[in-house]
Amino acid sequence: MMRLVGLFMMVAFVVGLSPCYGADDYEYVGAKKCKICHSTDKKAGTHYKVWEEEPHAKAFETLLTDKAKEAAKKHGIDDPSKAEACLSCHTVVGSPKPEEGVSCEACHGPASGYVKIHEKEGYDAAVAAGMTDYFNMDKEAKAATCTKCHKEDPMNDFYKPFDYDEYYKKIDHSGATSPEVKAKREKEGK
Ligand code: HEC
Ligand code: HEC
Ligand code: HEC
Ligand code: HEC
Repeated sequence: MMRLVGLFMMVAFVVGLSPCYGADDYEYVGAKKCKICHSTDKKAGTHYKVWEEEPHAKAFETLLTDKAKEAAKKHGIDDPSKAEACLSCHTVVGSPKPEEGVSCEACHGPASGYVKIHEKEGYDAAVAAGMTDYFNMDKEAKAATCTKCHKEDPMNDFYKPFDYDEYYKKIDHSGATSPEVKAKREKEGK
């Protein structure tokens, strides 16, 4: 009996970890881990504060609204905030904090590998440890990190045509980088 339970748990474990999008060898840590350094100019800058005010930070809360519940009903879903069919784009699947909505790691990649090293070891080391390589991507590749969610989908009743430039402008947080980091990059010729 115990061996059967053990086998069952092993199967559940493997199935549970099977990759959706973006999930590689790394795990999600949640946005609070980024907030420590990315909400003050004394450290990396105020990216967290910009994100907190844009729609991605509220993407999970959206699933609690009447508008979401009505849309979900048409798909035979009672509670969209518990349905994989909605959570798959309105949260970071695999995050310990799904209630944070579409948080940093949805775009920058699961951070267990790079969160502790990118400040000291630099950008290339971070990319090698799972950070999305935005600084070396062309526009098409950048857009592909968005269109895994911003796409037509039978469950996505609110789809609007996605244009990278137009959409990126609305969530641009590059101006939030601290003066100190900017000065350091300039000195290094980056
Ligand atoms: C211990 C402080 C610290 C933590 C925690 C931290 N960062 Fe950073 N991060 C920095 C600093 C400092 C920089 C600026 C590095 C530079 O360019 O000199 C940076 C830069 C970045 C960059 C730009 C690329 C680069 O290397 O310049 C991204 C993207 C990023 N961080 C994402 C994240 C995400 C996502 C999290 C949470 C999972 C996070 N960071 C947590 C300090 C931190
Ligand atoms: C994990 C899925 C996911 C990814 C990846 C993602 N988004 Fe989103 N995005 C959403 C969801 C869900 C919403 C709706 C949030 C809400 O209002 O509840 C949204 C909303 C937005 C909005 C607001 C649209 C409006 O009508 O005001 C913009 C702008 C946006 N995203 C830009 C981007 C860009 C640019 C990227 C890539 C760099 C990106 N998104 C990546 C899921 C995602
Ligand atoms: C394929 C990804 C995807 C799936 C699956 C998905 N959504 Fe969305 N949803 C989005 C994106 C992206 C937006 C923002 C669209 C835009 O403005 O361009 C959005 C917007 C919304 C909005 C509008 C927010 C507002 O008021 O502006 C609601 C409500 C919503 N979704 C509910 C749901 C529900 C309920 C489900 C499950 C039945 C669901 N979504 C499944 C990607 C998705
Ligand atoms: C919807 C996707 C998305 C989300 C969510 C997101 N980012 Fe970004 N981030 C981007 C993109 C795209 C860029 C720009 C890359 C480029 O073109 O240079 C960027 C750039 C950055 C940079 C570099 C800024 C610079 O100096 O140029 C940092 C640092 C960063 N993000 C941190 C964060 C943190 C921290 C969070 C969460 C609080 C976060 N991001 C949430 C997509 C996202």
